[in-house]
Amino acid sequence: MKREKLERLEKIARKNGVHHIDGNSVLIVDHEKIRRNYRAFTEALPRVQPYFAVKANSLPEIVKTIYDLGGSFDVASYPEFLLVHRMIKDLTPEERRDFIWEKIIYAHPVKKKGTLKKLNKYKPLTTFDNFAEIGKIKQYAPNAGLVLRLWSPNTGSTVELSNKFGVDSGEAVDLIAVAIDSGLQVEGVSFHVGSQCNNFSNYVQALEFAYKVFNEAEARGYVVGFSREQRKRLVDIGGGFPVKYSRKDKKFEELAKLLNTETDRLFPSDEFEIIAEPGRCMVATAATLICEVIGKAIKHGKACYYIDDGVYHTFSGQIFDHIQYPVRALKKGHTEICTVFGRTCDGFDVISQNAQLPPLELGDLVYAEHIGAYTNASSTHFNGFPPAKIVHINK
Ligand SMILES: Cc1ncc(COP(=O)(O)O)c(C=O)c1O
Repeated sequence: MKREKLERLEKIARKNGVHHIDGNSVLIVDHEKIRRNYRAFTEALPRVQPYFAVKANSLPEIVKTIYDLGGSFDVASYPEFLLVHRMIKDLTPEERRDFIWEKIIYAHPVKKKGTLKKLNKYKPLTTFDNFAEIGKIKQYAPNAGLVLRLWSPNTGSTVELSNKFGVDSGEAVDLIAVAIDSGLQVEGVSFHVGSQCNNFSNYVQALEFAYKVFNEAEARGYVVGFSREQRKRLVDIGGGFPVKYSRKDKKFEELAKLLNTETDRLFPSDEFEIIAEPGRCMVATAATLICEVIGKAIKHGKACYYIDDGVYHTFSGQIFDHIQYPVRALKKGHTEICTVFGRTCDGFDVISQNAQLPPLELGDLVYAEHIGAYTNASSTHFNGFPPAKIVHINK
């Protein structure tokens, strides 16, 4: 990060008490960066309607920024649905209905009966991948529009999702048939190649699979899509769009070129709509965490620092999301390998055993970049420590 920007962030963190005797770590969320990420996505993939995956970072301020950009939303729980619904509370009932139909997908293939019951009046799109779910939807949310979640390879993706969701080729069209025969509307198919996907052939294989499913359904006499005004058949290419956390990560622009070619080849635009559920790539690079060094020791000859955040808090992304966030110092100097511990009592709360930091004093500040996706979202109050203080800039 450029020195000038870092100094600006340091000022903001200090203003928000990062160094106070009772202060807390500060997570700075830059909304201009979210807007830039959103625009980069829509410019690189002009045919794709992005439904921001709220789970990546469900801060209401972030949802609002994406709403103001004209964005759509992937929600995966009723509270997430309500969070987005709050944005549209002042619209007329008709506008609200159109927004829900056109801009929200409830992208969780397994829902509780009570959730379906509550969702039914909104008639949202929702995903499914098994026969039991069809029975529940038929009983509790017959007005929903169904999107079949297909299995897709997740090879080379940091976060595996295909172990849990997605129907394979043997059953896919049977599920469409049973859903349509029971009077439900099937609007299209979806897949997810795994989050932080650095293997673009996952997308190619998943798109081929989707193409075959549409063809087989048609051959068996089942019409997918076209049952809602203005909508065609939906091909939902999910998330997975990689973020450049390090030099090893592939470029999103490279993937976008491939996706444009493949979607045009397989899914003509007069018949198909392409949607996506990007989470990480909208928010990861928009947040920086600043923490204070609250303790230090030399253990077996190695410098160890204790900072006021950790793997139960913003660094929880290292556990659940499998991403490493290198800890860096605000002050310059010759670095050495050291250990950085989180602030809880748990020996598991280790942020890094091989951080590269200059010798630090109590009260010095350290930071971690690109820490906006699946981080504060999974922060806990473990050990009585609250999550980082969130500060929004450029709203
Ligand atoms: C169904 C679904 N859609 C979208 C996403 C967002 O994916 P990403 O953050 O990789 O863009 C996820 C992430 O877990 C997901 O499970």
